[in-house]
Amino acid sequence: MPDGTDPAVFPDHADWTWTYEGYEPAREQLRESLCTLGNGYFATRGAAPECAADSVHHPGTYAAGCYNRLTSDIAGLTIENEDLVNLPNWLPLRFRTGPGAWLSPDTHKLLEHRQSLDLRSGTLTRTLRYEDDDGRRLAVRQVRLVHMGDPHLAVLRTEFTAEGWSGDLDVESALDGTVTNSGVERYRRLAARHLTHAHAGASEDGGTVWLRCRTTTSDIRVGLAARTRADAPAPVSVRHDDGRAVHLLRLALADGRTVTVDKTVALHTSRDPAISDPLHAAVDRVGRAPDFTALLASHRTAWRQLWRNAELDVPTSAGPVLRLHLFHVLQTLSPHTADLDVGVPARGLHGEAYRGHVFWDELFVLPYLNLHFPEVSRALLTYRHRRLEQACFAARDAGHSGAMYPWQSGSDGREETQRLHLNPRSGRWLPDHSRLQHHVGSAVAYNVWQYCEATGDTEFLHTKGAEMLAQIARFWAGLATYDGALGRYRIRGVVGPDEYHEAYPGASRPGLDDNAYTNVTAAWVLARALDLLRALPGPRRRDLDERIALDPDELDAWEDVSRRLHVPYHDGVISQFQGYGELAELDWTGYRSRYGDIRRLDRILEAEGDSVNNYQASKQADVLMLGYLFSPAELRGLFARLGYRLDDATWQRTVDHYLARTSHGSTLSSLVHGWILARARRADAWAFVQEALAGDIADIQGGTTGEGIHLGAMAGTLDLVQRGLTGLETRGGTLRLDPVPLPELSEYGFAVRYRGHWGVRLRLGAGRLSVTVPDSDQDPIDIALADRTVPVEPGESCTLVLTDQDGTRPTTA
Ligand code: BGC
Repeated sequence: MPDGTDPAVFPDHADWTWTYEGYEPAREQLRESLCTLGNGYFATRGAAPECAADSVHHPGTYAAGCYNRLTSDIAGLTIENEDLVNLPNWLPLRFRTGPGAWLSPDTHKLLEHRQSLDLRSGTLTRTLRYEDDDGRRLAVRQVRLVHMGDPHLAVLRTEFTAEGWSGDLDVESALDGTVTNSGVERYRRLAARHLTHAHAGASEDGGTVWLRCRTTTSDIRVGLAARTRADAPAPVSVRHDDGRAVHLLRLALADGRTVTVDKTVALHTSRDPAISDPLHAAVDRVGRAPDFTALLASHRTAWRQLWRNAELDVPTSAGPVLRLHLFHVLQTLSPHTADLDVGVPARGLHGEAYRGHVFWDELFVLPYLNLHFPEVSRALLTYRHRRLEQACFAARDAGHSGAMYPWQSGSDGREETQRLHLNPRSGRWLPDHSRLQHHVGSAVAYNVWQYCEATGDTEFLHTKGAEMLAQIARFWAGLATYDGALGRYRIRGVVGPDEYHEAYPGASRPGLDDNAYTNVTAAWVLARALDLLRALPGPRRRDLDERIALDPDELDAWEDVSRRLHVPYHDGVISQFQGYGELAELDWTGYRSRYGDIRRLDRILEAEGDSVNNYQASKQADVLMLGYLFSPAELRGLFARLGYRLDDATWQRTVDHYLARTSHGSTLSSLVHGWILARARRADAWAFVQEALAGDIADIQGGTTGEGIHLGAMAGTLDLVQRGLTGLETRGGTLRLDPVPLPELSEYGFAVRYRGHWGVRLRLGAGRLSVTVPDSDQDPIDIALADRTVPVEPGESCTLVLTDQDGTRPTTA
């Protein structure tokens, strides 16, 4: 296991389970995130059902795309934030052996506490033994699931066994609508009550309790219903008090005899299709829900299908971690996502960090999904397309043309980036200029292109895809200004992926000029948009021209900008932005020895009264992101189109320069560096890959995973195997491979869905690549290596010997 991993966790390769031994309040928040269960429609943190929210426990249930806005007064300003709403808590189930206090791990003696996450079947099992104040022992086993087949259902089974005594056990099972968004310490001073008008009730026979409420400003109505049943006669009563719907059961426990209580819950919101109202839908659904055994069986079947479609076999210690990452990706973005109007939440549906917002992180997620669940990718791109108009409004409001996608996106696609952020080190609220990361638009365009390349979905490419690409290209062309002295176009006043640098030292205005990543990706977008427009079928082209008022002169301007955007250099390396080379050098050794962990160097320097803007110091890969997005050949071509020669030596120098000046303050950083170094400096790659693998399980960014997983980094590690190490590209209707061996991750296999072929198996190891194409009536797949192309017919396999052990020049079949 990577360094720093929770020492009490034991992943079991064969069994696919992650087991946490013991109860540790300090690790509870992290475990809640990592033990979250979800199905793409909603997710629930792995919180203890007998505990309410407090400083140790952070229960949370989040439905994809369910946002609400609130205003707060902070530092003399009134600010508005939109949050992914913490919905009513369906988990509460507490119990006591007498009229005293309810048993809880914080107040009672725990003889045993174990929590096991079973990835194969998508269940979380808790095994506990309590001792009450009178020394009576109670064994509790609890299994929960958030149903992967029926996305509106969840179940919590609890088995109670009295050990050495007989008597009553009171059980209270509730739906709690009094919850707030309080899972992130830094946001505590911000308004957090998103739910209002909570009403609770019960069915006539008392078998079902329900709760309905709505969000305060987005007016999303929420309905939940719970059926709680014991497998032994037990008097049941219901109560509904302020915002809580409660079932009370009295169980007669006999020594050594287990009594089981099943709580089945349904959740609907007014965003759901095919319902009359959410409460009716929830009550109806829970009434029709089968028993636990049947639900578990159908849930397992749904998971089995997912694992089949995302087959991944990595026999080393990276294997269990990759599988955990895949599990959380699939719980956030599942086949159910294909029917939703949602984007890629940077922190999954696992916590409240970044308010559930959608950033450029889909750049690290969609390329993976494209080759397994293309319908999900298409839905996520359609989320962007539905907000294209809003992005065009944003551009127009700022005096630009085309589409300016927001750095942070939520419900309607307006800019959701906070105006102020708190530096927890200094306690100061500071202006946040990260909204100047307009490069997010290129990420949207890149994903459109990648998706269409991987799937051959020309219908999407020629309609929604073309509209997005054209408007993003138009934005870049309009933003670029010609500098006569330089003889080039410049894009000024932006922030690059390294969000540390927001302004020039001492400048009164935020923004930097000629961010290399922004300019090169803008040139790529312009070139692709031109290719696409030229290739569009005539009628479609006419429609598009009319719809977005495109005229031929504009395309000439795009062509010109795409060839003459400025890329700054200093000391023989690509500059992150114009003037970067003049910034001071940071005393990295001094800062490391003084502070130890300097990942958040920005906060350290600000707390010292200094600014990271003054230094050649990056939070994460910026220029180097170019090597993440483009293969070496494609990047060389892009630079050549811009009139620059990018040779291997310049790239290598650039890699070394930034590697020595990056603090890795984002989980995305180690991933991108691992990916780049696998080709550019192989001996150093594994350390970064390991860090990317450990990002969440060892909470590398110090306390952030407890606020939600890092979905981009998780999906990115899967893609590192799928595309990074194999060099897999789907360009031009051919599967291109250019494998690079990483000794620590040298053998692996996976299956992809590619242009109508389901389950194309690729396996690398021992200097060989084998490809198996399942039988079908589809065309053969062309597999292209560096120097040859081999067609593989459906129903056939082929093994290619990678004669050069570097793996970069596979030759012989
Ligand atoms: C990173 C961004 C990322 C965001 C959300 C930040 O820490 O710097 O690149 O988009 O987190 O994951």
